[in-house]
Amino acid sequence: ALTVTTAGTVTTGAPGQAALLGQGRPASASATPRPGSAGLGDSYFPDYGNGGYDVGHYDVRLRYEPATDRLTGTTTILAKSTQALSRFNLDFLLDVQSVRVNGWPATFNRAGVHELVVTAPRPIAKDQQLTIVVKYAGVPSETLVNGYTGWTRTADGALAVNEPESAWWWFPSNDHPKDKATWDISVSVPTGVEVVSNGVQPRDPLPEAGDRTRWSWRSTRPGATYQAFLAIGQYDIVTDTAPNGQPVTNAYSTTLGDREPAARASIERTAEIVDWETGLFGPYPFEAQGGVAGPIDGIGFALETQTRPVYGPGFWRRGANPYVVVHENAHQWFGDSVSVADWSAIWLNEGFASYAEWLWSEEQGEGTAQELFDFTYADYPADSEFWRVLPGDPGADRVFDGAVYDRGAMALHQIRLAVGDKAFFRILPAWTARHRYGNGTIAQFRALAERISGKDLAEVFTTWLFTAGRPELTTAAARSA
Ligand code: ARG
Ligand code: ZN
Repeated sequence: ALTVTTAGTVTTGAPGQAALLGQGRPASASATPRPGSAGLGDSYFPDYGNGGYDVGHYDVRLRYEPATDRLTGTTTILAKSTQALSRFNLDFLLDVQSVRVNGWPATFNRAGVHELVVTAPRPIAKDQQLTIVVKYAGVPSETLVNGYTGWTRTADGALAVNEPESAWWWFPSNDHPKDKATWDISVSVPTGVEVVSNGVQPRDPLPEAGDRTRWSWRSTRPGATYQAFLAIGQYDIVTDTAPNGQPVTNAYSTTLGDREPAARASIERTAEIVDWETGLFGPYPFEAQGGVAGPIDGIGFALETQTRPVYGPGFWRRGANPYVVVHENAHQWFGDSVSVADWSAIWLNEGFASYAEWLWSEEQGEGTAQELFDFTYADYPADSEFWRVLPGDPGADRVFDGAVYDRGAMALHQIRLAVGDKAFFRILPAWTARHRYGNGTIAQFRALAERISGKDLAEVFTTWLFTAGRPELTTAAARSA
């Protein structure tokens, strides 16, 4: 719910760039500035993201104190209005000190849990370039939404790694995968602390006054806001070059103890795995590769953060685990480059990344996809809760339910059986090519699969993605039987 701001426009202190605002044009009836919407109407998270503008780039400049979890920052957002705006929203939680729009001080107030409402200091026309500068501070681990923070404070630093909510705790944004942008992130920390993030380092860590060091990272391909991450702490950073010539940067927390060899033996296979996935999914979409083995007291999951997934320590409990590396890097194509247009379509991410693990198993001679399908089918009894979750529409509180992953992979296997291997392995790279750096829907994937295969796939999509209950295996579906 959005409360209407009553704050007036600020008309003092106009700097040179103010000429960009308003252009002195009288607002015609059709271009009457209106508030940008407080959300993008996502069917699961309607107030995530904001309407009325499109972000091209975030410049996130931070200072962090591991000892207190105090974060201060300035984020500069380069955006373009998509309507005449009287005000617009950003998604953000920390305390804001000031907001400027094209140099003009703007008034702002809060609404809902994560909405920062910015009143345009001068009327904003449609298709206008906006430079929005937000200065802020806070303690992210203590900034709770329903008792929850997506920012994980650890013994030696912090992790900003979460899905779908992550940016709220460290930079103001248009927080929905429909608005992709590039970003620069720089963080000043006490010297001796490492900072790892997405993409490449445009310059070496730079010494600053007060025995501090500023780390810089740059993402040069458009990504969703939840792809941006920070890993701050004690890391061993290892660089290399991938078979495709790209820089590889891996980082290993020094807190992992006897799990460290398994983490290294897994993450060091990233370039090999990305090379194999390129053969199946099409050209690797991003500018760098790598992985981050997060600290022992960090996150209980892994995330496909763009160019460089972050792995929780649980994946190394039973030794090396290339499967999670396969999974998170498959997401670089399915999730990161081709992102959901609506969070209800999470199967396009998790079903595909899970099926990539089955393909890897097949490739390694550790069980065919058909064997894994049969095992999974038998593993969940027909009366299991598992079969009640629809992978194609699991519900906002079940986007990461096991059924989205396992039944989601089963659905892809059924699509493969329905279209045949030749068509199936043409559909995957065609999908990533068509929606590269964009968004996709399940209906669009079905239409593409039908066009390439020449088959009507209504039944397999309905049965495996949108119908509760364990499907009966027809003779076609039970090929191995
Ligand atoms: N996309 C991640 C993966 O499949 C899952 C993230 C789950 N998020 C969370 N906060 N537990 O690898
Ligand atoms: Zn996943």
